[in-house]
Amino acid sequence: MKTAGKKILDATCGSRMMWFNKQHPDAIYTDKREGVFVAYGNETIVKPDVKTDFQNLPFDENSFYLVVFDPPHSKWLGENTILGQKYGQLFSNWEIEIKQGFDECMRVLKPNGTLIFKWNDKDIKLNKLLDVIKVQPLFGHTSGKHGKTIWLTFMKS
Ligand SMILES: C[S@@+](CC[C@H](N)C(=O)[O-])C[C@H]1O[C@@H](n2cnc3c(N)ncnc32)[C@H](O)[C@@H]1O
Repeated sequence: MKTAGKKILDATCGSRMMWFNKQHPDAIYTDKREGVFVAYGNETIVKPDVKTDFQNLPFDENSFYLVVFDPPHSKWLGENTILGQKYGQLFSNWEIEIKQGFDECMRVLKPNGTLIFKWNDKDIKLNKLLDVIKVQPLFGHTSGKHGKTIWLTFMKS
């Protein structure tokens, strides 16, 4: 699939909470879910440009300058909770899916392009995640009330 001139891929856009401009003209937004999800009166609207699985992205290799990857990270969020609907839930074979998703994000990046990987290590520790993806980040930083959210930066060399 062509990228229609878009420079940035958000491979797990969800409701685009992290975006300042949720319709950024340089970005293409993808997610495997689409719809309006309601829990306890709270609506989460997921409307990707392309509904697709990050394990098999429908883009040519070397397509984007920047890829954002923010997959589910919790094993215990119920599907019908507000957080479960915003962030999704980690699958039982999460190691395979996350590794495949990471490799796909790298494949569609242009050489020297940047991958921003957001993780929360409440349930699965950063060291375990790094064992799974087998690539060392350049640098990263924690954020959030409890310092559990980690922003990792990779470059495709
Ligand atoms: C942590 S949320 C992303 C939140 C988003 N960054 C935001 O700012 O709102 C993770 C998203 O990944 C999506 N997801 C889970 N598994 C996926 C897969 N295999 N392929 C594509 N998207 C997936 C979920 O539907 C969910 O919307």
